[in-house]
Amino acid sequence: MNLLHITAECYPVAKVGGLADVAGALPKYQNELGIQSRVIMPFYNNTFTQNSEFEKIYHSRLTLGNNQLDFNILKLADNSLGFDLFCVDVPELLYKDYVYSFDDTERFLAFQIATLDWVLTFEDKPDVIHTHDHHTGLISFMISQSFKYETLKNIPTVLTIHNAQYQGWFPHNKVYLIPQFNFDNVGLLDWDGSINPLASAIKCSWKVTTVSPSYMEELKLKANGLEHLLNAESAKCVGILNGIDWKVWNPETDNFIIKNYTTKNLISGKKENKDWLCKTYNLDNTKPLFVFIGRLVHEKGADLFSDIFNIALEKTDISILLLGSGEKENENSLKPLLDLPNFNAHIGYDEKLSHIIYAGADFLLMPSRVEPCGLNQMYSLRYGTVPVVNAIGGLKDTVIDIKENGFGICHDGVTTEKVTEAISRATDFYQNKEEFSKNSEKITKIDHSWNNSAQEYLTLYKSLKQ
Ligand code: ADP
Ligand code: GLC
Repeated sequence: MNLLHITAECYPVAKVGGLADVAGALPKYQNELGIQSRVIMPFYNNTFTQNSEFEKIYHSRLTLGNNQLDFNILKLADNSLGFDLFCVDVPELLYKDYVYSFDDTERFLAFQIATLDWVLTFEDKPDVIHTHDHHTGLISFMISQSFKYETLKNIPTVLTIHNAQYQGWFPHNKVYLIPQFNFDNVGLLDWDGSINPLASAIKCSWKVTTVSPSYMEELKLKANGLEHLLNAESAKCVGILNGIDWKVWNPETDNFIIKNYTTKNLISGKKENKDWLCKTYNLDNTKPLFVFIGRLVHEKGADLFSDIFNIALEKTDISILLLGSGEKENENSLKPLLDLPNFNAHIGYDEKLSHIIYAGADFLLMPSRVEPCGLNQMYSLRYGTVPVVNAIGGLKDTVIDIKENGFGICHDGVTTEKVTEAISRATDFYQNKEEFSKNSEKITKIDHSWNNSAQEYLTLYKSLKQ
């Protein structure tokens, strides 16, 4: 089987969040299952693209409305990622030092059109095209409707929804940017009066997956306006839990962390990482260390962080370290906390530091209001760090509370009271050193590698065979 993933992000080439981790890991595991899995993404201007060798394998000119744009398809020269990586180079639009911006409609349409123009030239067409989120949401519409792509019509398409909050809306007056199609079918692009790439992909893709089973059920009740559509299309929808890349996220071999460790020397190994963090960030290493890593946005509960941390630091004897960036208001709300002795924050994005934090922390906080899957909690389990989570979406599917014979701390809803209460329960758990250590050792063995879920995707693709 020959599969093409189309995505805006892919680790380690360009990463904003978990989509990159999925697009950089799933294809690797799929290749191991014997599927020929390839990835195509935009060619951005970043450290990875500047320092890697790419071969130009195709050149053409695409039409975007009234514009003609030259583009190249570049192939990563080595196979270091564990799958073939192709990039669409549209210099004017895509070769930027960012992934997302204000002109994403034009940028990602150019990316999608160039990709399909290139696929048109294949002798062996992909058996399945797998798209991710709204940035690649118009692929399934164009394949099924645009005259130009008539010969691709029979290729099954799968959409994975990583996050339904963002849908890529744009006004109907930009419809001329999409390669010509029978206008009677313009309704396939529309949702609530706008062109909605995510809604269109839900309508036009052969199968729709979400990144956890619980998130699929939640979306049927609340999906930023798409709940009716998801209910109507539920026969082709399924939730498949993300996995994590055990080769990258492995405390035994992780090159980023201060001290590698296995389950056997977990306690001393984690301690060395914690000591480094506490020394670097001026925190007391004798207190339980709670951390947060992620985007500082409403979905992640970041608007409540200042209240939560203030109260938790007052009520409980803990240290808190945060790594993240996002909405300026949320970033600014953390500044007064920096004067407190037991709090520190690194505002920004730092891949290496994130690994050390997963390794050195005692607890990882994830008070997300929405969490389609969440990878952080699975990374933290792998590194023996106890997750403290709001039980929704993928968090509900991966973390079981210690009260129910599980291994983590769950709260039901995101309010300052509920989160600080969970922190205080976690602190009590930490006091019982023996139980706590046993639990940390146990959680490193929970298998969330991609092996199982890659198999589930394979079964899904096979069901599409004509
Ligand atoms: P989302 O994609 O919604 O942001 P996920 O839990 O799926 O959430 O994935 C987030 C990924 O991004 C994880 O790999 C996490 O470690 C990483 N990450 C988020 N913020 C940062 C940051 N500031 N620095 C380093 N890594 C980060
Ligand atoms: C999205 C979701 C996150 C998920 C990630 C990878 O960014 O917000 O929950 O883990 O995609 O699927």
